[in-house]
Amino acid sequence: MDYAATGQEALSRIAEASDLETLEALRVEFLGKQGSISGLLKTLGKLDPEERKVEGPKIHSLRENVSDALTSRKDVLETAVLNARLAAETIDLSLPAPEAPRGTVHPISQVMDEIAEIFADLGFSVATGPEIEDDWHNFTALNMPESHPARAMHDTFYFPDRDAKNREMLLRTHTSPVQMRTMLAQGAPLRIIAPGRVYRSDSDATHTPMFHQVEGLVIDKDVHLGHLKWTLETFLKAFFEREDIVLRLRPSYFPFTEPSVEADIGFTLIDGKRVIGGDPSKGEGGWMEVLGSGMVNRRVIEFAGLDPDEWQGFAFGIGIDRLAMLKYGMDDLRAFFDGDVRWLSHYGFSALDVPTLSGGVGTPA
Ligand code: PHE
Repeated sequence: MDYAATGQEALSRIAEASDLETLEALRVEFLGKQGSISGLLKTLGKLDPEERKVEGPKIHSLRENVSDALTSRKDVLETAVLNARLAAETIDLSLPAPEAPRGTVHPISQVMDEIAEIFADLGFSVATGPEIEDDWHNFTALNMPESHPARAMHDTFYFPDRDAKNREMLLRTHTSPVQMRTMLAQGAPLRIIAPGRVYRSDSDATHTPMFHQVEGLVIDKDVHLGHLKWTLETFLKAFFEREDIVLRLRPSYFPFTEPSVEADIGFTLIDGKRVIGGDPSKGEGGWMEVLGSGMVNRRVIEFAGLDPDEWQGFAFGIGIDRLAMLKYGMDDLRAFFDGDVRWLSHYGFSALDVPTLSGGVGTPA
């Protein structure tokens, strides 16, 4: 018998099979238990040995050809299915990656938070006042009447118009008016700090027309200079995170404190760099002025409507910018206000770096 036609037909149908199910149906049709080629193989048993010698190899090679064709067509169809899936299930790698966090907390904001954290631990709350002030709160009530020479030292920015009470309006030259506002609003006893912006018409490498101060005020009974010294020392040790802070108090003059003291902090020279701490009188180094302070003047307590025989207190004003420069090693004050992104990303802090006393108030970003 000639199986060529049977083989040809089977191979062409296999080649045309367009999916795996059709191909499987063909496999069953040809090679399955009841399949046509399987049927041919069964006929071999009924042939006599001579015929079987002739027919056997033909049927077996037919079966082999069909089986090979099924296998290779199956490979082709499976590859096609896989390719279709790969095409449908791609990941778009060109999608933009999530942005890295940008923006930093300005060193001044960070230092203000550090200061507030330290004083909160000492029982101080935070008070605020307006940056646009009147001359009564900024000067007169702080024992600087109109003709007082200290007014001239403040290089004040005045507004052209007066307020409803006919008071001259100005940009506050220090945070001290918050002392008066808080005493008037809350009475005594009192323990506050007031951080904020202040303005003076002054501009060079160490002065900017706007800068930052933090005011401190304690009003209570039997308060004396020793309390002031202890408070300043305790604050500065916590702020610079070192025990060897040495303070030098010098007699000074502010109209709203009596006596008045300016405080210098000792630094030592390490490889030519100024490092806060150590006693300059025992080696190389020097003193840096960081704050003005004193016992609240009796007249200021009277202006606040309190009896100075009953209530005393101390006050201090610290330059925040100067303190930040000393702690974090910046040397040009003007860079604070340039808004240079490179400077900010170098000296700025992470928004997550919230100062805490337990975690260290000064851990750099
Ligand atoms: N207000 C003063 C200044 O700006 C500092 C100061 C504050 C001094 C409180 C004494 C008490 O120079």
